[in-house]
Amino acid sequence: MDNLADKKWWKEAVVYQVYPRSFKDSNGDGIGDIRGIISKLEYIKSLGVDVVWLNPIFKSPNADNGYDISDYRDIMDEFGTMKDFDELLNGLHQRGIKLILDLVVNHSSDEHEWFKRSRGSRNNTYRDYYHWWEAERGKPPYRWSVFDVNSNAWQYDAASDAYYLHYFAVKQPDLKWENPKLRQEIYDMMHFWFRKGIDGFRMDVISVISKDPAWPVITKDILDKYYNGFWPSYYAKGPNIHEYLQEMNREVLSKYDVMTVAEGWGVTKDDVLKFVDAERKELDMLYHFEGMQLRHLPVQNGILPDPKYDLVAFKDIYTKWDTLFSEKGWGTIYLGNHDQSRMVSRWGNDDPGWRELSSKMLSTFLLTMRGTVYYYAGDELGMTSIKFDSIEDYRDIDTINNYQRILSESGDVIAFLEEQKIYSRDNGRTPFQWDDTIHAGFTSGKPWLKINPDYIRINAATEEHDENSVLNYFRKLVQLRRQNKTLVYGKYRLLDKENSKAYTYIREDTNKKFLIALNFSSATVTIYLDVPILEAQLLLSNYSDTRKSLIETGKLELRPYESVIYEIQLR
Ligand code: NOJ
Repeated sequence: MDNLADKKWWKEAVVYQVYPRSFKDSNGDGIGDIRGIISKLEYIKSLGVDVVWLNPIFKSPNADNGYDISDYRDIMDEFGTMKDFDELLNGLHQRGIKLILDLVVNHSSDEHEWFKRSRGSRNNTYRDYYHWWEAERGKPPYRWSVFDVNSNAWQYDAASDAYYLHYFAVKQPDLKWENPKLRQEIYDMMHFWFRKGIDGFRMDVISVISKDPAWPVITKDILDKYYNGFWPSYYAKGPNIHEYLQEMNREVLSKYDVMTVAEGWGVTKDDVLKFVDAERKELDMLYHFEGMQLRHLPVQNGILPDPKYDLVAFKDIYTKWDTLFSEKGWGTIYLGNHDQSRMVSRWGNDDPGWRELSSKMLSTFLLTMRGTVYYYAGDELGMTSIKFDSIEDYRDIDTINNYQRILSESGDVIAFLEEQKIYSRDNGRTPFQWDDTIHAGFTSGKPWLKINPDYIRINAATEEHDENSVLNYFRKLVQLRRQNKTLVYGKYRLLDKENSKAYTYIREDTNKKFLIALNFSSATVTIYLDVPILEAQLLLSNYSDTRKSLIETGKLELRPYESVIYEIQLR
């Protein structure tokens, strides 16, 4: 069945991602919480979004801000109680907004009851809930860990004289999906949340849950030859991954009208349809990392190129990923989340002269592409990356542990810190900027992570009253997408492919046809439309004096960061 014939609520959704720790604090402890979110429900509703995705809210010692869960059926102390959660869910549903939670089941916390028992001895019911390698077998075959200070995913544990596996931090042991009892526990837990009425899950690194229990030796040569030198690509090829996802679908997902989106760590274009082809009955969507892996171009003569990454490569990535889902499956689109820097700093231009225009331009891209939109809270204000100078300011285990590792290897920590200004996850985690009062109206206490000092200029209250703000522009885009399903389901066609400064495309179906043109640079640019346009009417632009109609045009000129959406008249 093709996509057009197979309409679904989650395909049409704009998903608004709330990072609870940084959204709104209600009790003055400096940490965002559920009651804080409840107090901002009217704001969320005013955006026009359809779904809220909450990062993990479950009990956790917070080694990785909630991605280390010690009880899957309870709420983190800092965030509130189950009663608060029920009220939040109700409050969203009353406003016609759905809620999806984060399912973090590649690993648990080492403080989860299962792991505490598992590590206690070699013979206990929970031993097989995790991956163990007995020390008398020698050292286990090397596996890479993303957060470990030694990059080693095997941690020796004296209690049972064995190593356990952790792809992430030492405090995040990997669960053993090979054990059917563990899988059943997870499915029961998922039923628990679905019975409460949640509308789906974003599935944390679900791509890597299946391990090869033979633990083959993976040399650098093997990694380079078959996995692009990238460990997650090996991890995402676990032998039983699709068997587990099909089982999960059969046992749980098929029983509810819910949406699922996989975090596709390590998943390549060749494999993605295995996860999301509806006929295979696994998951609905997957979000890829290829766009995020695009790095800045080197500085030339002391100047960062404009745009500062290769836009032709950027267009190629999003075009190829769109094509993958043109007949089967369904795509996703995002430019920011809690694991990335702020959208405008990374993909636009956060210089005060260009910040608003480029934020609006990037939002135009997100809201006019095919695929479900994942939009990160704060980007609708044009919040920027904080770019800390000192390691002391960072709170993220990723930055802190990698800094330690580089230090211990006598590596270049100065260069590392410079790089973190561009890529660190804490850039995207600074508290939401509500107004220009102390601590940006986020908390009355000491914020857990420094607030970006630009909150004096960039905040929701100020933007609320400005008709032309980034915030109000985002709202217009959401409405435009809602009113024009062609922007959701219609075909996508890239124009002027080699243009290194502008991204231009057509979205069309039998009802309507749109031309979207986006200048990603601070220069004026001419776009060559490979298809002549006889007549088109302007629907939205981030400049107030953009031409209202186009007549018999084969090219188009855009000012710095200008973005336009024209409706092309069908004849
Ligand atoms: C991906 C999450 O998005 C990230 O924040 C987390 O650190 C890792 N998975 C581990 O759970």
